[in-house]
Amino acid sequence: MHIIHTLAELRKTVTEYKQSGKCIALVPTMGNLHQGHLQLVDRALTQADVVVCSIFVNPLQFTPGEDYEQYPRTLQKDAEQLDSVGCDIVFAPSVEEMYPHSQNNGLDQCQIMIPFIGDMLEGAARPGHFNGVATVVAKLFNMVQPDKAVFGAKDYQQLQVIKQFVRDLAFPVEIIAHPIVRDRSGLALSSRNAYLMPQQRQQAVAIYQTLNELERKIKSGARDYAQLEQEAANNLNAQGFNTDYISIRATDLSLPKANEQQLVILAASYLGTTRLLDNIEIKL
Ligand code: PAJ
Repeated sequence: MHIIHTLAELRKTVTEYKQSGKCIALVPTMGNLHQGHLQLVDRALTQADVVVCSIFVNPLQFTPGEDYEQYPRTLQKDAEQLDSVGCDIVFAPSVEEMYPHSQNNGLDQCQIMIPFIGDMLEGAARPGHFNGVATVVAKLFNMVQPDKAVFGAKDYQQLQVIKQFVRDLAFPVEIIAHPIVRDRSGLALSSRNAYLMPQQRQQAVAIYQTLNELERKIKSGARDYAQLEQEAANNLNAQGFNTDYISIRATDLSLPKANEQQLVILAASYLGTTRLLDNIEIKL
């Protein structure tokens, strides 16, 4: 497995693969890899000849006061895990390599703006977050030039944002969505779970349970979505969470029509200072 830190070396390696007609898949990550990330790499390996996993904690997508400095950086362990699943290239640029002409972590450079869906839900709680995500992913697409890229449904809104800019800006990259990987209790795997105390980790599964309970109610005919959302948030808060939103949406994140057949329920809730995200998709 190649571990590459510079754009110049990446371009050289990718060009060689491209010239020999290889199909390239990219799995963008911020590292501190867990089984969820590794499943994305497995999926990519079934879809392409060469798999590149990028590891870059992107300052541009963290809002002031967030955990950019504390975000766990575990490159050596990540590289060992990626090697063991058969990843071909790890691309781990420095901030200077990613934003070389910037005085301010990329903030003073061109960015991709995601109107409407970039400003709701996670975007409302974290202004500028999705511009930062879209910008770095677009930049990674230009650097790696993949034919395909794999993203997790764990970050459902992020996935929609990426699909939208790829469509709107005509990036020649096929976006592949991989389902949420959970632990045995049902808790969605996340690098940020590492911030939870052991007892909070046990509590955290309540989010998934709440989403399942909402699914059951909707499938048995409940349609007052605003009330369902409110009850679910109250229920979580009574268990010690501080819920930012529980939102029942159409799969494109618009508000569901009366006869909507496919829904997604998204949740963001704090346990202590840790912001946990989860969602489930349901077909009626
Ligand atoms: P990160 O949080 O490291 O996640 C990298 C990829 O792994 C994303 O596509 C995310 O949805 C996926 N992922 C994380 N946990 C998962 C789980 N439990 N099941 C399935 N997939 C999971 O998302 C980012 O990094 C960044 O925003 C990035 C896209 C790399 C841009 O900086």
